[in-house]
Amino acid sequence: MAIIERLQQDIEFLRNCSEPCEAGTTRLSYTNEYRKGANYIKKQMEDAGLAVREDSVGNIYGLLEGRDPYAPKIITGSHLDTVRCAGAFDGMAGVVCALEVARMLRDNGERLNHSFEVLGTIEEEGSSFGQVLLGSQFIEGSFGEKELDLVSSNNGKTLRQILTEYSQYESPMPACRRENKIKAFIELHTEQGPILESLGIDIGIVERIVAISWLNITVTGFAGHSGTVPMNNRQDAGIGAFNLIVDTNRFVKENYAESATATIGQIKLSPGSSNCIPSKCSFTVDLRSGEINNIEEITRYIHSQALCIEKQCGVAIDIRIASLKHPIQMDKQIQNLIKQSCNELGYTCKQMNSGAGHDAMIFARRWKTGMIFIPCVRGITHHPEECVTWENMAIGTDVLYKTILHLDK
Ligand code: HGY
Ligand code: MN
Ligand code: MN
Repeated sequence: MAIIERLQQDIEFLRNCSEPCEAGTTRLSYTNEYRKGANYIKKQMEDAGLAVREDSVGNIYGLLEGRDPYAPKIITGSHLDTVRCAGAFDGMAGVVCALEVARMLRDNGERLNHSFEVLGTIEEEGSSFGQVLLGSQFIEGSFGEKELDLVSSNNGKTLRQILTEYSQYESPMPACRRENKIKAFIELHTEQGPILESLGIDIGIVERIVAISWLNITVTGFAGHSGTVPMNNRQDAGIGAFNLIVDTNRFVKENYAESATATIGQIKLSPGSSNCIPSKCSFTVDLRSGEINNIEEITRYIHSQALCIEKQCGVAIDIRIASLKHPIQMDKQIQNLIKQSCNELGYTCKQMNSGAGHDAMIFARRWKTGMIFIPCVRGITHHPEECVTWENMAIGTDVLYKTILHLDK
């Protein structure tokens, strides 16, 4: 079977590992759909001749032993979970292209000096726990035993409870690798933006991944009857929240239009009846910027604006930082190896930053890490119509393969 057919087969199978949703693919971590997708990839890993294992938080690995058993590993992969109503390539492209590299090594009779490992991480999107990059933080070690009880899902279960139901481990212990066991981590990912396609460039070489901050904000007011409480006598939690949301959006657009983003992705009014003034409104704020001080300034603004709104609307506003990831540079030597691979293969490439977060930003804290971007059609992502051409998937696989060979020298 040709490379493109194998890539298509893998992507199309994963596309259909989804819970019922309005459109696209919804495969949240630790669900039956996730288990079906992970088992498919584990089977493909086995068929490709890899030694397969799953760690106790649900990350899956396929290992190809190198000639030198004492040499550190070269790892490549990405995440297998999705946002709701997603496309079929965000995360999956990196896992499927990494799997294809393993098949190419086998078919070409290449025996690397270093062990080579394909990785499929869990809970990168943070859709289930409000914690982005959860799976890779257990591998890198900043998450460990205590997070199993500290981190809880949106429906109130701790990670330990969910793991006990999901995985084959009775008392799950976190995965944690020692520093000297990983030589490099490379993640292939769709660009999730329009630059490469608009410039007609084959490959993006990531230099820097932006900071990500997730805030959980809860506005508390006082419930009342929508028809009998006068407008000037309300403590309307919804109005308090909407004011803060509109003020924050305006502040970021006016002061950081080119250097930061602010997004309200989730919002919930309680008690949630049409004829009841909301007593509570909780919502999330996703802040991104290449510079951490922009994130800090915007967060300070949100706090100061909240104080004004508390007085204006007679509400109380609680602001918590749920997750904060600093911006991080990709390894220069790996960037050069990716560029060298593109030149040798005759593909065009461009160095660029990533506005999206990736598992690579966690691995880069401890190990040499690089990212290969492939173009996505019209830059559409986190959307059912997300699309990557099979030709770009094949080019990305080629460049990933070549870069691994260079890294192995
Ligand atoms: O949120 C992100 O940037 C990524 O899609 N997890
Ligand atoms: Mn994503
Ligand atoms: Mn992703």
